[in-house]
Amino acid sequence: MGRVQGKVAFITGAARGQGRSHAVRLAEEGADIIAVDICEDFDTVGYAMASPEDLEETAKLVEKTGRGVVTAKADVRDAAQVRAALQTGVAEFGKLDIVVAQAGIAAMKGQPPMQAWTDGINTNFVGTINAIQEALPHLQEGASIIATASAAALMDAHNKPNPGNDPGGMGYMVSKRLISEYVHYLATELAVRGIRANVVHPTNCNTDMLQSEPMYRSFRPDLEKPTRADAEPVFGVQQAMKVNYIEPEDISNAVLWLASDEARYVTGMQLRVDAGGYLKWYDYHV
Ligand SMILES: NC(=O)c1ccc[n+]([C@@H]2O[C@H](COP(=O)([O-])OP(=O)(O)OC[C@H]3O[C@@H](n4cnc5c(N)ncnc54)[C@H](O)[C@@H]3O)[C@@H](O)[C@H]2O)c1
Repeated sequence: MGRVQGKVAFITGAARGQGRSHAVRLAEEGADIIAVDICEDFDTVGYAMASPEDLEETAKLVEKTGRGVVTAKADVRDAAQVRAALQTGVAEFGKLDIVVAQAGIAAMKGQPPMQAWTDGINTNFVGTINAIQEALPHLQEGASIIATASAAALMDAHNKPNPGNDPGGMGYMVSKRLISEYVHYLATELAVRGIRANVVHPTNCNTDMLQSEPMYRSFRPDLEKPTRADAEPVFGVQQAMKVNYIEPEDISNAVLWLASDEARYVTGMQLRVDAGGYLKWYDYHV
């Protein structure tokens, strides 16, 4: 018996990175997967988004576990696209038990700056709301909602390093703080229905978002063209434990626990998976 045996999980941003890892980990433990991703780039984001081939690869990896998968190219900023993807997935699997709202962009240094701010808020915050609100009509007692915010949500804007030094970066921090607040109140509303809602806050995680030119520039503002080698040691100062970044599987294990009935009375939690980063840097309490 898997830890989420027979459950159905809807995951946004599932084509690569943490989203793919969550899809595979939940499938390994017995869940069928509805996987969506935008599979298109943003003008304001200085690194590429996932491709349609990435989403296909996620589907193949899920199928290898023996579980079912439905994929859709959908932009979480558009509630209608999310609704259509969910309808197809629920028609295939007959129900929905788990929501992992985690599609996100980091538009720091994005141009034009205020468009970068808007794209960050609309994807990270409004997109999270769309994923959850469109899923809600399908959820029953025992369901689990997990939203991915960030250690940045808990970061004081004056601490260094932080992503909030320009509108795109500040949009990231603000969107992640708003997710924390939104899920707090959502969990309060849903508790009586037996539906749980929690937030996961990853620290630096080894994905294409972190390993990107805008992120290197955020962490090494002293260099004109910082490389991965320049940024890696600075990634490390964000955590209290001796690690430069964590891996997607580290977040997936937290997501799996929150999704499973092992966490059946855990709701409204702000769960940090941050190698002690909060203890070291952060003083904003949510
Ligand atoms: N990598 C880190 O260091 C880190 C740290 C803290 C939090 N996070 C958060 O973790 C989540 C996952 O990011 P990741 O690290 O796997 O990065 P990633 O860039 O590899 O994955 C993000 C995925 O979301 C998709 N996406 C972006 N905009 C979308 C939209 N509008 N609609 C649908 N899909 C969209 C992308 O195509 C991509 O596949 C994000 O919310 C991110 O903010 C990441």
